[in-house]
Amino acid sequence: MQNKKFKRHTVTSALPYANGPIHIGHLAGVYVPADIYVRFLRSKGEDVIFVCGSDEHGVPITIRARKEGKTPQEVADTYNELNKKSFKDFGISFNIYSRTSNKIHHQTASDFFVALNDKSFFKKIESEQYFDEEQNEFLADRYIKGTCPKCGHGDAYGDQCENCGSTLSPAELIDPKSMLSGSKPVLKKTKHWYLPLDEYEPWLRKWILNDHKEWKSNVYGQCKSWIDQGLQARAVTRDLDWGIPVPVEGAEGKVLYVWFDAPIGYISATKEWAEKNNRDWEPYWKDDRTRLLHFIGKDNIVFHCIIFPCMLKEHGDFILPENVPANEFLNLENNKISTSRNWAVWLHEYLNEFPGKEDVLRYTLCANAPETKDNDFTWKDFQAKNNNELVAILGNFINRVIVLINKYYDGKIPERNELFDIDDELINGLKSAPGALEKSLNAFRFREALSGFMEIARSGNKYLADAEPWKLIKTSPGRVATIMNLAVQVVANIAILGAPFLPFTSEKIFRLLNLGKLNWGQAGEADILGPGHLIRKPELLFSKIEDREIQFQIDKLKATEQDNSHAKEQPEIPEAKDEIAYEDFSKIDVRIGKVLKAEKVEKSSKLLKMSVDTGIDKRTIVSGIAKYFKPEEVEGKQVSVLVNLAPRKIMGIESQGMILLAEDQDGRLVFVTPEHHVVNGSVIS
Ligand code: MF3
Ligand code: ZN
Repeated sequence: MQNKKFKRHTVTSALPYANGPIHIGHLAGVYVPADIYVRFLRSKGEDVIFVCGSDEHGVPITIRARKEGKTPQEVADTYNELNKKSFKDFGISFNIYSRTSNKIHHQTASDFFVALNDKSFFKKIESEQYFDEEQNEFLADRYIKGTCPKCGHGDAYGDQCENCGSTLSPAELIDPKSMLSGSKPVLKKTKHWYLPLDEYEPWLRKWILNDHKEWKSNVYGQCKSWIDQGLQARAVTRDLDWGIPVPVEGAEGKVLYVWFDAPIGYISATKEWAEKNNRDWEPYWKDDRTRLLHFIGKDNIVFHCIIFPCMLKEHGDFILPENVPANEFLNLENNKISTSRNWAVWLHEYLNEFPGKEDVLRYTLCANAPETKDNDFTWKDFQAKNNNELVAILGNFINRVIVLINKYYDGKIPERNELFDIDDELINGLKSAPGALEKSLNAFRFREALSGFMEIARSGNKYLADAEPWKLIKTSPGRVATIMNLAVQVVANIAILGAPFLPFTSEKIFRLLNLGKLNWGQAGEADILGPGHLIRKPELLFSKIEDREIQFQIDKLKATEQDNSHAKEQPEIPEAKDEIAYEDFSKIDVRIGKVLKAEKVEKSSKLLKMSVDTGIDKRTIVSGIAKYFKPEEVEGKQVSVLVNLAPRKIMGIESQGMILLAEDQDGRLVFVTPEHHVVNGSVIS
């Protein structure tokens, strides 16, 4: 690691919005990896602070409050408590879990804004924004709904379409509506303070694209794409009444944009921790021998890699992140996790249903962590990982060793004798384990690290199976003493090296071994426990999860699905057509093509005329999608094209082929687009 030059580490994990509980997606993407890493650093004796807290500003909280007839602060109080407890229950070992509603944070964020304002960093720009005349309020992006210009989804928000994931601005929405009153919002002038990100482009290019090539490819790629698309100034103030008041003249009634104040929350949290522990916060943020790491999910990348670093750099007093190991998303049973659709496994519910199985979830989530791409959590896989790995390999090995030492030696570690080849192999395996794990951990490859860790238990199991002490105990007691001495050294190594991943289990193993907690530096050895050391009686570490427990969880999700489908009327699904032979199908030539240009057909409200690159040729196709898409929204899109349909004239234009479309639940047409980019002309078969 670049550790040599660093004296200490400041590790942050995204401040979750206090508008809902924490689910397994949060845990797998952000908090489990961050916690593993921090526990590893601490075990190495590094100076680390690990901060988090509730993100209590922002519109999602005001929306929830409105829905529930509460104040935003009441909503935030509830989820702050709940989430703080969930993290604690799962052993996420923050040094502090703070809140952005704390005074110290308001002060820190205000000061930060003033410091930037004093440097004339911000641009003040007047623009037109949607205003709800019935409510007499400017509308936050989230309070405006309309049709997504990119995919035609009818329920897109002013800042984002949850259907296609596009980032939007309210002005792009088709048929915008205020969610406060349902009325059609009007545009009205207002002034805001903007971060001139555009001016930072050359610096960002160098700092990220050149100097941080080691960042994870998903993070680096997203940054590159943001920078290449051209950065624009971003407003960091809002016309809202929930948030931190903008602390400068002429900004009455305005608050800081939540994404301006939230990351500063990391600094405020560090200050709060320092105050409570009589420490100095400044080295953790201002000394360039401090390594700053942000653990986040992929939707937070732009804020942590581009916006916050620009703020820190412009301020001048602060260090910049050394790395931002962001993860992708975890799906649940093949569907996107969704708070609003209740498609999630909530941490507080899990612990009611699987008490004492914190590490089982930590294990499964780490093993499935969406490190390089989105990944799926299924209950069957959860059961398999518990039964086939934790019970059958890890638990079984440790239990056998503890049982046999109790049985043969009354719990006292026996002395070793002459070593055989298989003993040397085992010892060498132990020697190389910590280094191998470290390498994976420092590259933020937690899945690889976890599987390396399980290898130790596997090798222990294999050692016992090959050495067969139970067959030799009568005839060669000296040999068995060696075997059992070595086997228990493996258990001690598992306790040390497993602590970052499975902290609860590691603690139990140390207890079984009658040892205090040992550190990383003590692993890799086969002499952790001396002969004569007394261990405790066996206790099971893991237990089998039965089919009915898994079925219960699956049924619970199914019930959610049904609730959701009742909530929304489904479009009518036409009956299946008559069977056809393969030859019939093979006559159809459908290709992936790209829309090069699109324009409205004169005198028609429905038709778009498009020039399409089919890979075979460039041709004109007319399609009835003008109601759903603006021409510029379809240009550049890859679509499915029926290329051998006989040409026909539509409104005087010859249309050569047909673009395939599907209807969504709101009756809007959507394109059938390849999952990722393919060459034009690629055959659909
Ligand atoms: N609350 C945000 C979210 O859940 C994350 C904020 S991270 C911070 O997506 F940097 F702003 F703190
Ligand atoms: Zn969309």
